[in-house]
Amino acid sequence: MADLGPNTIVITGASSGIGKAAARLFVDKGWNVVATMRNPAAEKDLRESARLKLVALDVQDPEGPKAAVAEAIKAFGRIDVWLNNAGYGAFGPVEAGTPEQIRRQFDVNVFGLIACVQAVAPHFRANKAGVLINVSSIGGIMTVPAFSVYNATKFAVEGLSEGLWYELGSFGIRVKVIEPGAIKTEFGGRSADVWDLSRVPEYAPFMDKVNASRARYTRNSSSPELVAEVIYKAATDPSDRMRYPAGPDARQFIPLRRLLGARRMMRMIKQRFQL
Ligand SMILES: NC(=O)c1ccc[n+]([C@@H]2O[C@H](COP(=O)([O-])OP(=O)(O)OC[C@H]3O[C@@H](n4cnc5c(N)ncnc54)[C@H](OP(=O)(O)O)[C@@H]3O)[C@@H](O)[C@H]2O)c1
Repeated sequence: MADLGPNTIVITGASSGIGKAAARLFVDKGWNVVATMRNPAAEKDLRESARLKLVALDVQDPEGPKAAVAEAIKAFGRIDVWLNNAGYGAFGPVEAGTPEQIRRQFDVNVFGLIACVQAVAPHFRANKAGVLINVSSIGGIMTVPAFSVYNATKFAVEGLSEGLWYELGSFGIRVKVIEPGAIKTEFGGRSADVWDLSRVPEYAPFMDKVNASRARYTRNSSSPELVAEVIYKAATDPSDRMRYPAGPDARQFIPLRRLLGARRMMRMIKQRFQL
């Protein structure tokens, strides 16, 4: 890749958190960066430059990903790495979610991501090169109470990525998955879709326990910059390694989940949450 000038990365959801930290890091490393976001006009931190371009992309827009690929190629000639980072967490028991809330969670975290893969894969195949990076989660490997639908989307991202590893790998395209633990971003703030319990008040005691445990757990959240460093490592790793846990909690709990298996891990989590 290096002999063709600076590498180019396209990032979805670059207006905030992990996506924004990745945009900054890759610019610092000398890459061309296409920072896509739903509303570039509102962006205050990332400034366009010769090596940074802001592009509008809502991953729920069916035409959005293809247009973003075209804009990135127009700006920098080619795409070397595509980072599927856009996503958010729906929080609450399954019974509390409206059909629209549940569908939007899958639309953004799974179907939007798939649309981006379909948009960029022909370019990667034509180049016989490229790195596709999907941001999953520790929650793509193990479950956390009251994140059932979010967990379902990230388990989907894990399965999808394994499938893509075979498919795209056959064309020389590397597929990588980032599995962050708890990270200090807008994930738990303005981005969170906290479901209204008034539909099912019977869950109030369960949610009280979940909220208490969650507050303890997220106190030790890592920085988005730490995840950006892991993304950079994955983007530049020539090996066929697929999974990259990010953060001390992810590096602790993901191997523990593998060691214990689902049954014992779920019992342990139930006990820790005092459910
Ligand atoms: N923070 C954590 O603890 C954690 C842990 C594991 C995994 N993750 C994953 O990391 C990724 C990034 O999240 P974050 O922690 O950086 O949270 P964040 O600060 O809330 O950033 C989320 C980004 O996704 C964007 N987004 C949401 N819906 C979108 C859509 N329809 N189209 C395009 N962009 C959209 C947001 O854009 P707007 O600014 O327009 O809302 C924002 O840029 C997500 O996939 C998340 O699931 C986070």
